[in-house]
Amino acid sequence: MALYLGIDIGTSGTRALLCTRDGQIVAAANAPHTSYHPKPGWSEQDPEEWWQATVKAVRKAINQARRNKVLKEHGPVAGIGLSGQMHGSVFLSKTGRVLRRAILWNDQRTAEECKEIEEAAGGRGRLIDLVANPAHTGFTAPKILWFRKHQPKLYERTHKVLLPKDYIRYRMTGEYATEVSDASGTLLLDVARRRWCTELLERLQIDPGLLPRCYESEDVTGTLTKAAAEELRLPSGIPVVGGGGDQAAGAVGVGIVRRGIISATMGTSGVVFAFADHPHVDPHGRIHTFCHAVRGKWHVMGVVLSAGGSLQWFRNMLAQLEMQEANKQKIDVYEILTAEAAEAPPGSEGLFFLPYLTGERSPYADPFARGGWIGLTVRHGRPHLIRSVIEGATFAMRDSLEIIRELGIPIREIRLSGGGARSAFWRRVQADIYGQHVVTVNADEGPAFGAALLAMAGTGAYADVTEACENTIHVVSQTACSKRHRRIYDAAYPVYRALYRCLREQFPIMAGLAEQQAKLSDSESDSL
Ligand code: XUL
Repeated sequence: MALYLGIDIGTSGTRALLCTRDGQIVAAANAPHTSYHPKPGWSEQDPEEWWQATVKAVRKAINQARRNKVLKEHGPVAGIGLSGQMHGSVFLSKTGRVLRRAILWNDQRTAEECKEIEEAAGGRGRLIDLVANPAHTGFTAPKILWFRKHQPKLYERTHKVLLPKDYIRYRMTGEYATEVSDASGTLLLDVARRRWCTELLERLQIDPGLLPRCYESEDVTGTLTKAAAEELRLPSGIPVVGGGGDQAAGAVGVGIVRRGIISATMGTSGVVFAFADHPHVDPHGRIHTFCHAVRGKWHVMGVVLSAGGSLQWFRNMLAQLEMQEANKQKIDVYEILTAEAAEAPPGSEGLFFLPYLTGERSPYADPFARGGWIGLTVRHGRPHLIRSVIEGATFAMRDSLEIIRELGIPIREIRLSGGGARSAFWRRVQADIYGQHVVTVNADEGPAFGAALLAMAGTGAYADVTEACENTIHVVSQTACSKRHRRIYDAAYPVYRALYRCLREQFPIMAGLAEQQAKLSDSESDSL
């Protein structure tokens, strides 16, 4: 008997969980992180805070397990798996000191550096040939270029650049290491060959010595040092496996480890994630092609920046009364909102919502894209407004599904997770808009659970992570697609797609207007 520890360094906090070999979660705890936004579009966190949060969450989970006697019953922790927010950059000095706050995946400061990378690579197409993806502002390579340009003295002192979970690995094991799934999101990995891309590194004049050694996700990358073990209240010497970027680890956590199985996760952002036997590359770079956390396999992934985030926005801005009511009834406010949405018919009587509240990544890679309702008439009421937000976010997910289909990747089963999977109403809307039945599985723990499964595979509890998933994860519910609703949504979808094309040129102008207005009102208040 043994326990496995999965740790996810998320954006809002760190989660640590302990589970048994059969996938039963016996203890879990969270600790929050602070985000810093020193300028519009900037997003940073302090890596030391990640470590403190890891210590807190692990100690809490271990204490829980001790109190519940599961530590005694199931035996010691046999392996640790790490997962984390992708693309972030931790710059370390030779002595392991963090040189500046980490720049995160949702930071938008590097539009210029993205252009420089495409030029240095010999064009966008050549960049996609080299690393399977175009440059996105959130990815790591443009952040390295930004740091070199804007903080050259600190850059000179940089000894290693690590991803968020790999900084925690360094604190745990003293090793500089990463693994293929997270490394794919740096834009410096030759994704097809699963190793650092020397040609691009040369063209960008980035010293390959700055990068850690890159492993497969199940491989053991080091063991817990005495000092870290003391802080975490664990025995030293526990093996720490590669783990995965949060999306790959999350996909492992719902069993996306075979051809034909894909996941649609509706959190603040929405992610459509498909397992792939080969590195299928979208020549237009509309969705990402990354290594999977399954040895020798890949995945393609579309990221909708404000999927559940659009409904969160509606809740925060336009549902104060519902929030009070939910508090009174001690229920989730989304139950009230989805019940209201269900009063409107499928298609919201011609009302569309564009969910581009924070720009968009897939399929448009457009930081200027903006959201909004279009098609309003006097007949429309609150139910239509809410329903169209849910439908708009789901249409945005369908955009990625369509590209996955176009790349020839089979879609036999769509596994739902995140907030959009918890609501029966949203599950039905997803089945109807995706045009096929959808399922949910017994595991809804996400990346930390996937990391624990990778730890099981890496320490010999299973032959590999596919076997680990198949022994622990199974389908628990199925939602059918209604033929009638599907017809309604199939007719509406081309209109949804056309709206972005019609508005695309206006979006940067709108963004410019907002900036100008902010400046004018600043100077007006100065002169008052
Ligand atoms: C994936 C992505 C996010 C972050 C934060 O490409 O940007 O999922 O990993 O969760």
